Amino acid sequence: MPAIPSIKHIDRDRLYTDRLYRYQYICEVANFGEEDIKALKASASIVAPLVPAIVDAVYERLFSYKITKSVFTQKNEGFTGHMDDLDHLNLTSDTIKFRKDFLKRYLVKLVTAEYDAKFVTYLDWVGRIHTNTPLKKSKINVEYVHVGALFTWLHGFLVEALDPHPKLAKDPVLRGKILAAFSKLLWIQNDFFAKYYVLDGQDLLQSAPEAQARPEFMMSGSSGEL
Ligand code: HEM
Repeated sequence: MPAIPSIKHIDRDRLYTDRLYRYQYICEVANFGEEDIKALKASASIVAPLVPAIVDAVYERLFSYKITKSVFTQKNEGFTGHMDDLDHLNLTSDTIKFRKDFLKRYLVKLVTAEYDAKFVTYLDWVGRIHTNTPLKKSKINVEYVHVGALFTWLHGFLVEALDPHPKLAKDPVLRGKILAAFSKLLWIQNDFFAKYYVLDGQDLLQSAPEAQARPEFMMSGSSGEL
């Protein structure tokens, strides 16, 4: 008799109401685990010096198109300084410096954080903050097409920066693990954006108890510096 493969039960409703359960499910399917987290942390000394360049490149990309640049003429969460209009807004405007700092801390977190429930709450918040959730003060809503496009570009950028990196030249196995770990991580982060854009489970998302909470993680000034 051929062996019957075991089949696991996944609670569909919990995927929309329990972000940790959703994260664990995706990690299991993606085979993202301790090995990947180890590889991400091993890349910290390589990634950290690249962070300012990555952040500058992200904003250059977003400022290359009126449709994405315009998003930054709206006051964002936590920013109380002067806002420039579209013609005056540039990569050194106060609001962009403020945004760049958040993105730097985020990128550092990806390669230094404990991948625990608190961090999953943060990944979820990063996705949600791009939508006009009532949990933030700004009404900014970044349409998903731009998010997906930026993820695509960022993935390529990271691979091109890390693959030929001299510090990884002698260890192709580690290099492969780092590239795979980043690829999986970006897709996992992308899921925490997509869940606020797709219609699947919207009825449940509204009523999820934890959807009411706003994380303290980055708001409390945890800088995540290396
Ligand atoms: C690869 C995809 C993206 C990643 C990983 C990302 C990452 C982040 C992070 C880490 C924050 C700060 C979250 C916090 O305050 O704790 C943020 C906020 C923000 N991002 Fe993104 N982002 C992405 C795509 C985009 C795109 C495509 C745009 C605009 C076209 C954008 C515009 C913004 C704006 C305006 C905020 C502030 C939102 C507010 O305060 O209301 N992001 N992003």
